[in-house]
Parts: sequence; C-alpha cells; structure tokens
Amino acid sequence: MTSPAYAGHIRRLIDPNRHAPSEEVTHGDSLVLGTIGAQFQESRETTHFSIVDRWGNAVSNTYTLNWSYGSRYVVEGTGILMNDEMDDFSIKPGVPNLYGLVGAEANAIQPNKRMLSSMTPTIITKDNKPFLVVGSPGGSRIITGVCQTILNVIDHQMNVEDAVVASRVHSQWLPDHVVIEKLGVPRDVQEALARKGHTVVVDDYGYMGEVHAILVDPEKGLLFGAFDPRWGTSSAVGY
Ligand code: DON
Repeated sequence: MTSPAYAGHIRRLIDPNRHAPSEEVTHGDSLVLGTIGAQFQESRETTHFSIVDRWGNAVSNTYTLNWSYGSRYVVEGTGILMNDEMDDFSIKPGVPNLYGLVGAEANAIQPNKRMLSSMTPTIITKDNKPFLVVGSPGGSRIITGVCQTILNVIDHQMNVEDAVVASRVHSQWLPDHVVIEKLGVPRDVQEALARKGHTVVVDDYGYMGEVHAILVDPEKGLLFGAFDPRWGTSSAVGY
C-alpha cells in the first residue's frame, strides 16, 4: 500500500475485462519488490554490515537466525526470535542441510563437534591497517560472494563497487554443479564451462548474497563504501 511500484505490479496482474475467480487470487510477494525496484523489500537473508570509523577502526559483522525467522519461536514476553542454527550441524553424514551442504562426523550433533558455517566477516589489512572490510549473508553462497569481491579488488584491480556488482559463480562440492546468477555470466562462458564437463544451473533465486564492502585509501584519507544492488535494502552511507 505504500509502494507505487508494487501497486503497479499488482495492477498489471488484474484483467479489467474478466472476473478473477477467488482461487486464482492470492497474497502478494514482498520479495517481488526488490526485483521491480521498489524501496521496501523484506529479505529472507542474514544481515551483514561493514563499518570504518573516522579513526580507522573497522567492524565486519555478519549475524543470523539461519533460515527465515529462525526456528519461528519467540521467547515469551521478549519479542526475541530463536534461531534454527541446529541445521548447521549434520544430522548424519551425507545428509544435506537447508543449503545443500553436506556435513561430516566433525559436524555431528555431539559434544566437542562444531557446526558448519559459511559466515565469513572479513577485514583485510595492509601495513597493519584495515584495507578492505567485507562480508555478506547468503548461506553457502557467502564465501563465494566475499571471495569473489576480494579477488575482483585485489587481483582484478576493480573499484570496490564494480567488484560487488560483478556477477557471481558458485560451487560448493555437492550438489556437483556450478550455480550462476540469472544475469551477467556471458553465454560463451557458460558454454565453455559446459564443454569442460560442468553442469551449469541458474540459481533458483536468480542472484546470490548481499555483499557490503568498504575500501580504505589511507593515502587520500578516503573511504569507498560499496552496497549490493541485488537488494533494495542495501546501502552505503558516509559520515
Ligand atoms: O552460518 C551459516 O553459514 C548460516 N547459518 C548462514 C545463514 C544465512 O546466511 C542465511 N541467509 N541467507
């Protein structure tokens, strides 16, 4: 009701010349909002923020309930949602979790074992000072988004916003395929991957992660903040 873009989207679903039977009419999808450029969009994602203050202190923070709304239990009287991080343990070897990740004995639900985590809040330093602060939500795609952003900046010398925007390619051992974003991976690259024996699939969500990065240029005393246009709620803010 507060978004003209979303109202326009709903309006286009209405046929002015025909009654819509009630069983064909269903609730809206807030995730559509981002894809049509509307301002507000509720993400199912984990949250990441990167901060550098005026003194050069840096924070890279990724925090999560795991899946959307966690375990969907609220602690009575507090409003605090409980997470479902138990899914990051392996219920038994070979059985994938929500992200298709396959854990092993080390991730069993037992004392002295650890859950899997892809969360990789990262601070890269140069001469002992923060140079690149970066992180992302996205389950198993987090490592991919963070790693590719770092490679784009350091190895490919891209500016930090271009590095975040660049299309992502993901592989996580199992399932044994390469996942690409819906847009941005040239067809000849997809065909070359297929010729090498890769099974290339388009991510069922269309895009992966939400990287937030800050590049520090100490010589010029400048901070370059990069937000991820994949989500309407992403932003880079200066002070
Ligand atoms: O620790 C992990 O890797 C997962 N619990 C992260 C979950 C996540 O990023 C969900 N957001 N998309």
